[in-house]
Amino acid sequence: MTQQYTGSSDEVRKSIVQRSRAGDMTVSNREVAEAFAIDPQYDPYAISLDRVDPSHPSLFLHGTHWKHLQRLREEDPVHYHEESMFGPYWSVTKYKDIKYVDAHHGLFSSQQQKGGIALGGVPDREDQYSLPMFIQEDPPKHDAQRMVVAPMFSPRNLSDLGPLIRERAGMILDGLPRNEEFNWVKHVSVELTGQMLATLFDVPQEDRLKLIDWSDTIQNLGDPEHFETPDEGFQKLFECLAYFQGFYEQRKKEPPKFDLISMLAHDESTNNMSPQELLGNVMLLIVGGNDTTRNSISGGVLALNQYPSQYQKLLQNPGLIPKMVPEIIRWQSPVAHMARTATQDTELGGKLIRKNDRVCMWYISGNRDEDAIDRANEFIIDRDNSRQHTAFGFGIHRCVGNRLAEMQLQIIWEEVLKRFPKVEVTGDPVGLASSFIHGIRELPVTLRD
Ligand code: HEM
Repeated sequence: MTQQYTGSSDEVRKSIVQRSRAGDMTVSNREVAEAFAIDPQYDPYAISLDRVDPSHPSLFLHGTHWKHLQRLREEDPVHYHEESMFGPYWSVTKYKDIKYVDAHHGLFSSQQQKGGIALGGVPDREDQYSLPMFIQEDPPKHDAQRMVVAPMFSPRNLSDLGPLIRERAGMILDGLPRNEEFNWVKHVSVELTGQMLATLFDVPQEDRLKLIDWSDTIQNLGDPEHFETPDEGFQKLFECLAYFQGFYEQRKKEPPKFDLISMLAHDESTNNMSPQELLGNVMLLIVGGNDTTRNSISGGVLALNQYPSQYQKLLQNPGLIPKMVPEIIRWQSPVAHMARTATQDTELGGKLIRKNDRVCMWYISGNRDEDAIDRANEFIIDRDNSRQHTAFGFGIHRCVGNRLAEMQLQIIWEEVLKRFPKVEVTGDPVGLASSFIHGIRELPVTLRD
């Protein structure tokens, strides 16, 4: 095994990996957590290079993944891990290589049937746990389905949404307590993105917390604190399916209107989806629209507190917000990685990648690559070329919601600056145990009069 495990024997771990890779959803989450326990503080420079493996969720929970990725960027930018907890995979950590993989979708497939877009994806799955969605498809199906929802994110529609987002942001911020600590994630980031999602789907606003709960469920499927087994988590996702199936069938019968469900219900490439495919595409839009933006909103507050000179600069010149927003997204990199499967033998960074090998693009690492981004390891709100980052990906899967995400961040910061002299982080942030979504679960802050 490549990690510094402190738990069970290699045999136990191997059998768990085998069961998980075969798609067994009844593997106990606690058993996995115990078998793969590590000391997240261990020094990646103190072990042999071939053992470095940044994919362990615990590293991300404790914010110690940075040094692992840095060592790979410095010493082995295209790096093979024989036996991670997700099975064997290549780590791609430099900006230019990430861009190359992302741009060559013919060589590196996103298809769910081949393993999909996250480490740990199970190939050839067709049961109720398979979630086909257009981010896990190649052309032509990907292109046709993406086109169905793309109009929602067009500049014209976004300018219509702007005033609504501003009004809601204002109401959320005006309702916050003063001079007492509260969790910014729950009261601001989740609220704003939850309300936005309910609008995009045109479902009742009072159901927005259900959407958030389902989004969190996907992230927590393997977390013993939430579910005994992944299957238990899926039972909750099946409630999500039942909820959306109702709207999907209803909207098929109604004239087309401008919401994501109606768009899916009326286009020929998405009006006949199986229950799994409906759930898959709904989850894609929920997670895409929720976790990412939410963590950028929280990540910005944290970064500005960690870099007080930048906060000062912002307070003196709120006109910097449009430049700051992409910098926050780069800095947080809420999607830590996307994975692909090689469709043929190919070369990358001088290494031979074999057909069917899994390849992981660490976006979060590309965004710290000094060869591509000047002073990449510093948070600078007025940097030039701040939109040059890996956080939205490249090529045909580049984030379809990127302008909406930026607009939400821009508006929330404009409204924050109108109201509060400072959003002060007054407690320790709590991260997310995931090497897929780079998230913040709790951010204690205080607003002083
Ligand atoms: C800061 C916020 C966001 C970040 C960092 C982000 C990041 C990403 C990334 C990295 C990808 C995959 C790119 C690739 O594989 O090349 C992606 C795809 C996608 N995102 Fe976002 N995203 C954000 C916000 C949103 C929002 C607000 C929505 C919409 C509600 C959204 C919906 C999607 C969808 C549907 C895809 C799949 C696109 C495709 O496969 O063609 N995202 N996003």
